Order: sequence, then structure tokens, then C-alpha cells
Amino acid sequence: MSEKLVLQPKNDMEKDLPKEKFDELEAYIDSLEESEGTLIQVLHKAQKIFGYLPRDVQLFISRKMDITGARVYGVVSFYNYFNDKPPGEVTINVCTGTACFVKGANEIIAYLEEKLEIAAGQTTEDGRFTLNGVRCVGACGLAPVVIIGEKVYGRVKVEELDDILAKYER
Ligand code: FES
Repeated sequence: MSEKLVLQPKNDMEKDLPKEKFDELEAYIDSLEESEGTLIQVLHKAQKIFGYLPRDVQLFISRKMDITGARVYGVVSFYNYFNDKPPGEVTINVCTGTACFVKGANEIIAYLEEKLEIAAGQTTEDGRFTLNGVRCVGACGLAPVVIIGEKVYGRVKVEELDDILAKYER
């Protein structure tokens, strides 16, 4: 891979972008044998380290991997999984796998989108909730499934969502 990058955090770096995290990401990229086809892998790792993929992280990856920033941004914006905004304090993952879809996952997402005034993949203005539609979470017997933080809610009915959400409101 390319030579060691000397990228010091700039003063506009946010507090959740400490140099140690860039070092960890750099070490990961250096550990990969091939740079070809590893961008998605690197982005996954970066999102795990930073929690999301802010512009400075995308630029770092682009310079380190010697690819254009536009290409990195293109991949980040193409896949729902990647987020270039910080996640909310509480993440709501609604399973949209087949079993959950059949049992009304779409109605659940639609209700939450309206209630939280965001689209799936977005975070509320107050930074409290992030709403995601996710692939099968492996609890199909409980469909439809909503996971909030670490807690799994099974056989969720739209009418129950207000009460469930109330537990997480500030
Ligand atoms: S489809 Fe939702 S848990 Fe499997």
C-alpha cells in the first residue's frame, strides 16, 4: 500500500475524530495485501472505528488508497449501509427481510418515518433517533422485528410503536 500518511487532525476535526482512530484505520489499510477491490472493506472498517464516515475520513481513505475522493464518496452514497452523518443516540433498525416484509415491516417504517419526520437512513434533527431499514436479522419467527439499541422487539404492531418509542424519548 502507499507510504505512511502524515495526516494531522485539523482544527475543524470533530472531537470524535481523534488521531488514534486515524492511526487504527491506517494500520488496517496497511495490513491489506491488495488495494484492488478493498474499498468497501475499508469503508466498513472505518465506519466501525468512527461510527460514521465524515468527509475527513473519506478524504483520508482516498489519499491513503490513492483513489479519487469522488469514487469514495460515490460508494458511500450508493450504499444505505454507509452513513456520512453521525448516528443518533438511539438507532432504530426495522428488519425489512422477507418474513418481516410479509408481516408489515413497510407499515412500521412508514409510521416511524412520519412520526419522527425523517426518512429511513436519516437522523432526527435533535440527534436523538436514527431510523434504518435492515436486512434479515435472523429472528424471522418473531417477524416483524424492530431492534432499538440492543433490545429486540418481536411481532411488533404499528399500534404499539408510540409506547415503545416513548421509552427512548428524552
Ligand atoms: S426477515 Fe426479519 S428477522 Fe428475518
